[in-house]
Amino acid sequence: MKMDNTLLDEVNAQINREFYAAYLYFAMATYFAEINMEGFAKLTKNHAKEELNHAKKLYDYLILRDEKVTLQRIEAPDTGWTNPTDAIQAALNHEKFVTENIHRLYKNATEKDDFALKVFLSWFVSEQVEEEHLFQSMLDKMNYVEDCSCEIVNIDRELKIQNEYVE
Ligand code: FEO
Repeated sequence: MKMDNTLLDEVNAQINREFYAAYLYFAMATYFAEINMEGFAKLTKNHAKEELNHAKKLYDYLILRDEKVTLQRIEAPDTGWTNPTDAIQAALNHEKFVTENIHRLYKNATEKDDFALKVFLSWFVSEQVEEEHLFQSMLDKMNYVEDCSCEIVNIDRELKIQNEYVE
């Protein structure tokens, strides 16, 4: 079944958003590397790879449906974070934005009776719950320790261990 043109445009836009997310997390990894927070740098770099994988999933899906993939320009991410909490807050904000877009796409697939797309998108709906939880729980911990930079260093050390063998 051919995909509705509006849905196709939305999936292509989502591919772009996933590439942008990868770019954003690579920018964050750079920021964390610059301030010598190796754990946060590793986490965000690994996360950038996950975002590339999300883009690839959507890309492969359009190919499978014999639809046209349209790669669009990727914006440079806003950087200029003033501290680690600021950067992780930006990550959470971005994930919430992605969730809104995935939900809108899922709703539109439902309204257009594209059941195959709906089933495919359900993986992304679940994934967004995990992604928001990841950054929300980290932010909660960081806000809890607030100005105590030695505690942020401890969180960084934990993240370094947790992400050591993630590729
Ligand atoms: Fe692909 Fe973090 O959403």
